Amino acid sequence: MINRDLITRNINSRNTSNTYLPHPAVITEVITENSQIKTFVLEFTDKTLNTNFSYESGQFVMLSVPHHGEAPISISSTPTRPGNIHLSVRIAGRLTTALHKMEPGMTLGIRGPYGRPFPVHIMEGRDLLFVAGGIGLAPLRSVINYCLDRTGRYGTMTILYGSRLPSDIAFRQDLDIWSTLPGITCLTTVDTPEPGWTGHVGVVTTLWDHIQISPSDCTALVCGPPMMIKFVLRDLAGMSFSPDFVITTMERHMKCGVGLCGHCYMGGKLVCTDGPVFSMAELKDMDIEELR
Ligand SMILES: Cc1cc2nc3c(=O)[nH]c(=O)nc-3n(C[C@H](O)[C@H](O)[C@H](O)COP(=O)(O)OP(=O)(O)OC[C@H]3O[C@@H](n4cnc5c(N)ncnc54)[C@H](O)[C@@H]3O)c2cc1C
Ligand code: FES
Repeated sequence: MINRDLITRNINSRNTSNTYLPHPAVITEVITENSQIKTFVLEFTDKTLNTNFSYESGQFVMLSVPHHGEAPISISSTPTRPGNIHLSVRIAGRLTTALHKMEPGMTLGIRGPYGRPFPVHIMEGRDLLFVAGGIGLAPLRSVINYCLDRTGRYGTMTILYGSRLPSDIAFRQDLDIWSTLPGITCLTTVDTPEPGWTGHVGVVTTLWDHIQISPSDCTALVCGPPMMIKFVLRDLAGMSFSPDFVITTMERHMKCGVGLCGHCYMGGKLVCTDGPVFSMAELKDMDIEELR
């Protein structure tokens, strides 16, 4: 049952005059990450927005594709590198299939940014563990590059990335760069190897044996399919990570993106305004079905 107070709270706190107005943005580059994922580099038609569009890692936008409606998409670029924004999108259905057919020079609509970002302030001074599966690396790419650009504020960084097949590995350019940087451990694994693959094989949790982390000094950020999140959170709890320092993102169907329609209701919260970033401590209280 949706808590109507949540929606009333958002109606009362919001000036709704421009809430649904998308800003036109032109595709300047399309990066093919794998057969299912492309990264769209976008510049706003209103040039002032390219520097003034203020967002934080972990936030999402409502992306409108002409004739196909809107979808919530995480921003995969970092606010520390302004000038354009990156949206990394996996083909799921009608809108995302249409988007994948679009080319540089074409125009999309963007409204936002929305949602609660990653809590980069509580991560300062701590080691960081990033665990991602598939397209889940999109929001983490933003915060990983944010932390890299804030030199000296964070401890060691460990990045674990799981894909189904070697040919599914996305964000190869980023993974290659991160792998060469000092102070970073970046490991990739695949569920099923293909000919020529010499790397790790197994789900992402099989990488625990290959890394060294001190749970009491570390903040973990986890993004990926619900099944992966469930098992990673379970293992992190088993390693005695504090639930306040395990951070993940949740996805629900969205319509408004701004806390007004109730579509994204989840365990007493609205994912679009209370999330999509949640701590493990918060999720425990919300008793989410797919994480049980
Ligand atoms: C906060 C947030 C951030 C997101 N960030 C990204 C991102 O960075 N990159 C990306 O590729 N996708 C992201 N998504 C998912 C993306 O919004 C959906 O894949 C997209 O809306 C599908 O639209 P479609 O018309 O192509 O598919 P549809 O035809 O609408 O759906 C295809 C399939 O995907 C499922 N689906 C659609 N939307 C959602 C959703 N919101 N949550 C769970 N399942 C869904 C449907 O149930 C259906 O099975 C995000 C979702 C949320 C809520
Ligand atoms: S309340 Fe409308 S999408 Fe969250």
